[in-house]
Amino acid sequence: MNRICNLFQIEYPIIQGGMVWCSSWRLASAVSNTGGLGLIGAGSMHPDTLREHIRKCKKATDKPFGVNVPLMYPEIEILMQILVEEKIKIVFTSAGNPKIWTNFLKGHGMTVAHVISSSKFALKCEEAGVDAIVAEGFEAGGHNGREETTTLCLIPAVRRTTELPLIAAGGIATGEAMLAAFSLGAEGVQIGTRFALTEESSAHDNFKEHCLNLNEGDTKLLLKKLSPTRLVRGRFMTIIEEAEERGASADELKELLGKGRAKKGIFEGDLQEGELEIGQIASLFRQKQTVAEVMSEIVSDFQNGLKKLSERDAFKF
Ligand SMILES: Cc1cc2nc3c(=O)[nH]c(=O)nc-3n(C[C@H](O)[C@H](O)[C@H](O)COP(=O)(O)O)c2cc1C
Repeated sequence: MNRICNLFQIEYPIIQGGMVWCSSWRLASAVSNTGGLGLIGAGSMHPDTLREHIRKCKKATDKPFGVNVPLMYPEIEILMQILVEEKIKIVFTSAGNPKIWTNFLKGHGMTVAHVISSSKFALKCEEAGVDAIVAEGFEAGGHNGREETTTLCLIPAVRRTTELPLIAAGGIATGEAMLAAFSLGAEGVQIGTRFALTEESSAHDNFKEHCLNLNEGDTKLLLKKLSPTRLVRGRFMTIIEEAEERGASADELKELLGKGRAKKGIFEGDLQEGELEIGQIASLFRQKQTVAEVMSEIVSDFQNGLKKLSERDAFKF
């Protein structure tokens, strides 16, 4: 039995990553209803908004779902209290030290997974007592590891470091990519980009259309002096790229970033002034799909791919 399915009581070991301005109750419940694990992204929600989304998600699905908490969240004590009050069962923490909150969450009966971008942090996860690790490579959308380790290099390195249940993320959006991740030692996948561009994602249509027309090379990891973020080619990215080329300081970059840029770009669809974040794999897709379509494609491509793999000429040598 697959350990990720067991741990979260889900049908398929496919997790929809928590994503600022994309993963509301609607996306999370749609993924859970189709047999994966949906995560509400708390990173872009005020505590009261999070409570509302959790309640709506409970009404929309009777399947397990979870909440993603980036640990640099400013009102984190209030947010954690809400998770307890709302009897959340699954939490995916990211962007911080897993030692700070894991005991608290597990003490309240929650299953905890933590997102890392290097095998060094896998040991910290073990020490902290997390139940599963998400190892996220350089290709991924959103905030990212400074070291630029790709998924292909990261997953086997983390697999060698720990025996904890392992979920691979970063550039995985198809059943074939899921197969590749499994062959490297992963037992589940976390997918962000492909779900961010579905009907049910709360991102603005302008953002989705824009991302569904990207080509290879249209995203870039920038803002390393603040928090490394994969940005989409466009006006805002050019401003940041030019500033970094002339050696702008962290303070200058903070000033350029200002406040609310990601909301403007992803949620309000302002392609000029907004910050746009998506993963490299966006360039593979041209059509907006429903979560049900995406899930069934990934599951059947995984299962058929597994059968067909050894029949391919490339395997005969
Ligand atoms: C628009 C966007 C926002 C994201 N926001 C978050 C977030 O709030 N917290 C988090 O842990 N990861 C965040 N991520 C990362 C995803 O949860 C996921 O790990 C990643 O997208 C997987 O790689 P992929 O984009 O190649 O599928 C975000 C990704 C995207 C595309």
